Amino acid sequence: MLTMTLAELASAVGGTLRDADPNAVVTAPVRYDSRLIEPGGLFAAFPGVNVDGHEFAARAVADGAAVVLGSRPVGVPAVVVEDVRAALGRLAAALVIRATGLTVVGVTGSVGKTTTKDLLGPVLSRLGPTVAPPGNLNNEIGLPSTVSLITAETRFLVSEMGARNVGDVTYLAGLVQPRVGIVTAIGTPHLSGFGTLEITTKAKSELIEALPADGRAVLNADDHRVAGMAAKSAAPVTFYGASADVRAEDITVDALGRASFLLCTPAGSSAVAMRLIGEHYVSNALAAAAAALAFTDDVSLIADALSSAARASEGRMQVSEIEPGITVINDAYSSSPTSTAAALKTAAALAQGRRLLAVLGQMNELGADSPRHHTELGGTAADAGVRYLIGVGNADAGRIAAAASAGGVEVEHVPDAAAALALIHRRWAAGDVVLIKGSNSLGLQAVAKQLVAEGASDPAHAATQGNG
Ligand SMILES: Nc1ncnc2c1ncn2[C@@H]1O[C@H](COP(=O)(O)OP(=O)(O)O)[C@@H](O)[C@H]1O
Ligand SMILES: [Mg+2]
Repeated sequence: MLTMTLAELASAVGGTLRDADPNAVVTAPVRYDSRLIEPGGLFAAFPGVNVDGHEFAARAVADGAAVVLGSRPVGVPAVVVEDVRAALGRLAAALVIRATGLTVVGVTGSVGKTTTKDLLGPVLSRLGPTVAPPGNLNNEIGLPSTVSLITAETRFLVSEMGARNVGDVTYLAGLVQPRVGIVTAIGTPHLSGFGTLEITTKAKSELIEALPADGRAVLNADDHRVAGMAAKSAAPVTFYGASADVRAEDITVDALGRASFLLCTPAGSSAVAMRLIGEHYVSNALAAAAAALAFTDDVSLIADALSSAARASEGRMQVSEIEPGITVINDAYSSSPTSTAAALKTAAALAQGRRLLAVLGQMNELGADSPRHHTELGGTAADAGVRYLIGVGNADAGRIAAAASAGGVEVEHVPDAAAALALIHRRWAAGDVVLIKGSNSLGLQAVAKQLVAEGASDPAHAATQGNG
């Protein structure tokens, strides 16, 4: 973190110092898990549902925290505010203002934000010190904690911005003042929160509206709702997509599901061979390339960085080979019709004649059309060549299974992740490709991790399970 005295911190967040030396300094990032605190860091105490963060304040300070940001005095150095979330936002804004050499790139959209950030981070790192941490730190708490990672040397910050409501992105963008803004796609995720795609579009376009005239909007030309945001941009627009200025030509996918293509831009062309698994990530690579072009004309540098970028965040097309010859694809961080169709396509490409098992959980937050989306997904799974499907969760998961069954797939429907794990154990066999995907709350990521851990610890394990 950019060094701040506790007095400066209190004034930046509009809080009161308690039990503290105003001249002491914060030098390390914001954490809200006391176990992750670094010496000189700031521990943000939230009154949680099950545990009150304030109870861990003394422990955080004992472990090296310089100060606690909380809503009441805690007997150790603290800045006390009315609303810790709002205070974190004010802190982020103050840090960005202090970071004079910093340029912020914002990323929003319904799908692909985290992966785009994870691809752009390594590209910008070639141009200067960059903060773009793995994971999904895209809300009013995660974004400020990401900002707290910047130091005096940081040149680029890539900020993922999620939106559950209209106004969320305006708030987040107001904190970090992005010069470049990327909108990936407008799709179904969180539709029930917004009601309609039109409202989703409005919410995501807030990033473009926040850009300065000398900034750059980076828009997906293949998504007409995103492309239409150009009208709202004071900044010049770079489009990416199938036939846009920044595009991928000669796309091929290797046997491991990794895409290669010629990155074509107004500044020239260069070959990219991605390490990420999934053809759908080409779009995200183009978004990252288009954003990077705001800072460099060196297309070969961009292509080289995209080709070196490894998967950074968990649960997104995380492919593990376990004994005996079983491939487990953990794409269970989140789920939506778009991302599940993409995952099925890649899983089928990987299977190449091997048996494809799909463990598909319900997709939450799809609103009134949810039954239809689930039924369609069952058909998509059948068309992709899934041979055995486990639907996991509520009646919508049952709809996936029923539709897949109608398409000739062998199916079962179980209520939860634990039942899914037990069933996979009974059903998987040597040579299978197992795709695991569903809304995060179902806990299917843990199932995938468990399977991979078993495969790693006991190579004979899967072989003994048979297919009965
Ligand atoms: N361009 C894309 N098209 C289809 N699916 C995608 C795309 N980008 C990412 N995904 C998938 O969507 C899910 C969420 O990806 P992520 O990058 O975490 O997006 P977000 O941060 O917007 O939730 C993952 O399953 C991922 O594989
Ligand atoms: Mg994300």
